[in-house]
Formats: sequence, structure tokens, C-alpha cells
Amino acid sequence: MLTSDSQSLALRHLWLHFTPMGDKLTELPIIVRGEGCYVYDEEGRRYLDGLSSLFCVNVGHGRRELAAAAAAQAEELAFYSNWSAAHPRAVELAAKISSLAPGELNRVFFATSGGDANESAIKLVRQYHKLSGSPLKTKIIARREAYHGTSLGALSLTGITAIRAPFEPLLPGACHVPNAKTYGLPEGYDVGELAEAVRERILFEGPETVAAVIMEPVQNSGGCIPPPEGYFQRVREICDEFDVLLISDEVICAWGRLGYFFGHERYGYSPDIVTTAKGLTSAYIPIGAVIATDRVFEPFRASSYPFLHGNTFGGHPVSTAVALANIELMEQEELPQRVLHHEDDLRTRLESLYEVPIVGDVRGAGYFYALELVRDQRTKEPFSRRDTAKLRVTLQRDLMKAGLICRVDDRGGSIVELAPPLIAGPEEFDEIVGILRPALTRAADRMGIA
Ligand SMILES: Cc1ncc(COP(=O)(O)O)c(C=O)c1O
Repeated sequence: MLTSDSQSLALRHLWLHFTPMGDKLTELPIIVRGEGCYVYDEEGRRYLDGLSSLFCVNVGHGRRELAAAAAAQAEELAFYSNWSAAHPRAVELAAKISSLAPGELNRVFFATSGGDANESAIKLVRQYHKLSGSPLKTKIIARREAYHGTSLGALSLTGITAIRAPFEPLLPGACHVPNAKTYGLPEGYDVGELAEAVRERILFEGPETVAAVIMEPVQNSGGCIPPPEGYFQRVREICDEFDVLLISDEVICAWGRLGYFFGHERYGYSPDIVTTAKGLTSAYIPIGAVIATDRVFEPFRASSYPFLHGNTFGGHPVSTAVALANIELMEQEELPQRVLHHEDDLRTRLESLYEVPIVGDVRGAGYFYALELVRDQRTKEPFSRRDTAKLRVTLQRDLMKAGLICRVDDRGGSIVELAPPLIAGPEEFDEIVGILRPALTRAADRMGIA
């Protein structure tokens, strides 16, 4: 098929996710191939995949081992479900995940995606409390600007007004507190207050009605927001005070992204439930997982009452086979350790971009970093909403044209996000910064900032 045919068929028939599809859309990137840290479009143009294709392709593109694992599994047993039965790869993967996960995180429920894992977690915490004799505990506290998925339950936890508004009313009992971003807070602000906001909200809602708190170790939306020192330890204490479960949404932050198999390991806290997806198979095939502690599983064991939830494809044999092969690759190539070894190389290169007068903040952890762009570096004055929207479109286009895929975002500020494959190193970081520096300088010029 000719390239132009692909374009016109796409524009005629394909409905893109989260993409304005009016008449102004006359062309879109059609990515046809991937290898290592790079992807190629139908014209043969090469792009450095600085976002691991939506924070997914942790082991890089074109790994034959994963394709082979999928093919072998499809030949052996293409499909059997996890309803009242099991298949070997689901068993092996559940055991492998349990062996890697710290502490009592020993029970794995498979889902099909990150949003589906969070949807499952919402139902799990509700049923857990009902079985434990606290039937009123149904509410979940999440953070502003956080993204937890788009199904109606997960969307209710998502704290981004623009993508919630068209679908309201949402699930009752989803509440939001400020996220942990410290950049731009007023001088003298006590960052300890950020965790205390969770306690205040629990008290406001009534502790007997609150089932869980959900947070990412490093919040993606809003621009790679790491926790202040001691934040998660305090949130854990607050959860324990009120018998509230702590869900760590590690759809992005697990599988080496922060230098550990699980994101919470980096910050030394103990969640009751971890949700994950993306990097578990490096997205060679979809999967999601909810990992629960023995304590969360206990009322289901003790009562023999089923978790009344499931779907056809959660823990698909081919997905679980690919996940096992993916984890094996990560272990063989010591990818989490590699991230810890090279994360400072990434950070220092990105920090060199403070020379560009619109770079206000560089933050993140592991291979997960954001630049926050501002009108005034000194006062931290943010760009107006209009300018932020303009930057999102123009800078994204400019970077793509120069061969770098990253995310230019307008949620919670003007943000540029980077999450390269974990096989990347100083050479790719030089290339990333070599493209970012002139593109950001041009953006500063366009905004009239010298
Ligand atoms: C933190 C987080 N949670 C949940 C999701 C939803 O995952 P999915 O798109 O696989 O449903 C995402 C997606 O980017 C995410 O970043």
C-alpha cells in the first residue's frame, strides 16, 4: 500500500484517541517500525522515542525474544481464561511478580490495561471493606491532575477536569487532594502540609466512609512530580490511622522506570495494593495487574467469598508469556540497575537546559523526567493558559520535526516529559538534549522571552 493511501484511509476511517479530528487534521505520523530507542515512520524518518511510546517500551523496540515468546505461546496454548481455572504462564507470572514485589505483596489479579487494573482495584477495596465489616467504606482519595485511566471508575479518580467534564456525573465518592508538586508553592510553605491534606480530607469525608487512597510514586500528569522527603511515610501513617488502604498506581513507575522493579521501592513505603501495566510486557502485548498483600486477600480467603470481578482477557496466555520473557530480559540486562547507574547522566544534561530562559524546573527520578516551562525563571510566573496551549502544539510539532518524540503537555503547567527506553544511555541523552536546546530556544523566542 502506498504511503498516501495509509494517510487517506487513516483520515477517513481511524478514530484517534484524545485527538481533535476536525478538518484541520490533514496528516498524521504513521509509525511503521521500531528498533532499540528509535521508531521510523512510513517515509523512513527516524525518531528517538524519548517517551518509550507512552511510557511503555522499557526494553526498547524490536526485541526478538519477546516476539518469539508470543509466537511460542500462541502455538502451545493460544488462549484459556483465568475464570475458575488457570494456565501455566499465569501461574508462573503471578509467582514471579510476587517474588519480585517487596513484603506481603503476594497475590496477583490480572487485568487487561492500566485503567482496567485501577478499575479492578476500586472494586477490590470496596469488596474488601464489605467483607471486613466496614460496608460504608467506599470513597477513594486521589490527587489533582493525576491520571488513572478513562473507564468511568478510573476516570472518577483521574484529577484532570478537562477530561472528566464531558462524562459527568462520575462515580460518587471519588475525592481529590492537592498533588505533591512543590515548585511554585509560596515561599515558606510547609511541604508537610501536602500529606496532611490527605488526613484532612479523610476527616472531612468521615473516616468510616473512606476505603482507599491512590497515588503514583512519581505523578506523571502535572509533570513527573516526585514526593517530598517523608511524604509517603506520612501518608502510610494516615492510612493506618483510619483503616484506609493505600494503592500505589505504578502503571508507569514499575518495571525499572525509577530504577527498581516497583516504584514504591524507591521511596521506601509499603502499599496495600499495587496496580501496574505498560512496562510489564514493555507493551509488546497488553496486560494489567493488581498486586495485593496477604492482608487484603485475607477476607476473601477466610470467607471463601469470590472477588466478584473479572473479564475474558485478564492474564491472557500470550500476554503472560511475553511478560515473563520481558522480566527475564530486564533481569539479564540488569535494566533497573542501569537506570540507577545512568539517571544522573540524564538529570545533569536536562539541568543544563536551565540556560534556556523558559526552563523553570527540571524534576523527576530514574528515566522519568519533566521540564516545567515558565514565562519568568526568577519569579516562576507560569505561562497563561493560552500560551501553554500554543506551546503544546508548536513545540510538540517542532520537536517531532527534529526527530524527538516526547510529551509536551498543558496539564498542571507547561510541561515537557521524557521517559526514554531503559536501554538508553549517555549517547541518546546527548541526542535528546541536542534537539531540545534549540527547540526550546526557538519556543522562548516565539514567546518573546530573551
Ligand atoms: C498512572 C497511570 N495510571 C493508569 C493509566 C491508564 O492506563 P491504560 O491507558 O493502560 O488504561 C495510565 C496511562 O497512561 C497511567 O499513566
